[in-house]
Amino acid sequence: MQNLYSKGFEKLYDEMYQVFIDYENEFNFYNSVIKKNKATNVLEIGCGSGHLAKHFIASGIDYYGMDLSSDMINLSRKRNPKGTFIQGNMTDFSLTTKVDATLITGRTTSYLNTNLSVYNMLNAIYNNLNKDGILCFDFIDANRFFAVIKDGKEMIHNANINERNYSRISFMEPDKKNENFMFQWNSKYYETNNSGSKILIEDISTVRAFTKNEWELFLKLSNFKIIEIVDRKSYAFDTYVIVAQKQ
Ligand SMILES: C[S@@+](CC[C@H](N)C(=O)[O-])C[C@H]1O[C@@H](n2cnc3c(N)ncnc32)[C@H](O)[C@@H]1O
Repeated sequence: MQNLYSKGFEKLYDEMYQVFIDYENEFNFYNSVIKKNKATNVLEIGCGSGHLAKHFIASGIDYYGMDLSSDMINLSRKRNPKGTFIQGNMTDFSLTTKVDATLITGRTTSYLNTNLSVYNMLNAIYNNLNKDGILCFDFIDANRFFAVIKDGKEMIHNANINERNYSRISFMEPDKKNENFMFQWNSKYYETNNSGSKILIEDISTVRAFTKNEWELFLKLSNFKIIEIVDRKSYAFDTYVIVAQKQ
């Protein structure tokens, strides 16, 4: 999905995803994790266009947002002029202040295509967390999701916002020619108005789903202890959320 995050298409992402994702609900969930673990500051990796940031900043917590895409960072800054946003790569970053909590939301872990990138990310997060700090992230559950897309599956998602009608037609299938549990996600984005339907962008991506067991081992080998695994309903994919603590 990387095409959708820059060069003007981040605005399409921003419009459509605020229909797909209930960010207030997301905030309530992640905020309860943060409160339970008494974190006073938080880094959100893959902050996108800053919707979750808006809620965190309003809550008064010391919030930092990071994203690979400078166009997404610009949108986040525009939405949240008082926020702190950094352009950076989750697999290799260094903050000036360590944090009590790191969040990775919206299945941004799907872009960790190699095991090396998973270890690098966990290592970077470990080094930027305070003692006993927590990491909370979601991922697409390969076991359940691959059962659905096993023979290829088309999915249509519509978003009506600001008097614009968008639709995304996705075709997803397992990519068995690749290492790990990768899948091909081909999607076409359309805008429909009185004069018909117009294609806006076609996005062809190879992204990753994980099993719970994979994450259990990645975390153990990277010195994190799992506190909680939550089976969480979310749009389009079967998703788990893991909360882990730095050891
Ligand atoms: C699916 S979007 C989720 C955005 C946001 N969390 C949300 O829920 O709307 C994934 C985001 O991760 C960012 N991203 C992808 N690879 C990244 C990386 N290696 N490091 C940091 N951010 C990355 C993308 O630019 C994009 O904004």
